[in-house]
Amino acid sequence: MSMRDRGPFFTALAAAAVVVAVGAGAQAAGERKAPHLGTPMSAEEVAKWDLTIFPDGRGLPPGKGTAKEGRVIYENQCAHCHGDDGRGATAEELVADPQPLTEEAASKAIGPYWPYATTIFDFIRRSMPAGAPGSLSADEIYAVTAYLLAANKVIGDTDEMNAKTLAAVKMPNRDGFEWIDVKK
Ligand code: HEC
Repeated sequence: MSMRDRGPFFTALAAAAVVVAVGAGAQAAGERKAPHLGTPMSAEEVAKWDLTIFPDGRGLPPGKGTAKEGRVIYENQCAHCHGDDGRGATAEELVADPQPLTEEAASKAIGPYWPYATTIFDFIRRSMPAGAPGSLSADEIYAVTAYLLAANKVIGDTDEMNAKTLAAVKMPNRDGFEWIDVKK
């Protein structure tokens, strides 16, 4: 029986088998090419983006700052978007009175809502101030982080924030979240 006798379905199947065989042959011969998009990053460029700070503080750089220093930075570089005292303006509120998460319209400001203080440093370092991310030094980020924590009444006004003390801050509602194990 010839291919023609078996009808169009078998013809199509045979054609598909040929395509697969050619594909496998090319792969085996190392002819499958990467798309060559972009250029490999240098170690320095990778370091610029290697910014992740973990909840336990891994990744925090050396440096220090207090709420008093941070207030000046906040007022000059953050308040026009986040409002006086962090109470919100065109950008969201960052400061709220201490409160539980069980209210219907619970605040999502840093104090009530963020489970880890180390995330504040991470977020500011990678993205704030919105018009000039990356422009603040580590000391300035520790200071403005201290200011936001003190304004949320999580730390005292004179507490110094550094890699050790920031990682040790326990956010008020850390245990108010239900953690879901995604592997289950
Ligand atoms: C030009 C306006 C602008 C300025 C200036 C600015 N921010 Fe923001 N900020 C935003 C916007 C918009 C968002 C929301 C962006 C998002 O969630 O991705 C935001 C989000 C944030 C958040 C996360 C809030 C949340 O609940 O998710 C933090 C923390 C923050 N900014 C801190 C700062 C600090 C500190 C400064 C000053 C050093 C600053 N911002 C300056 C506009 C601004």
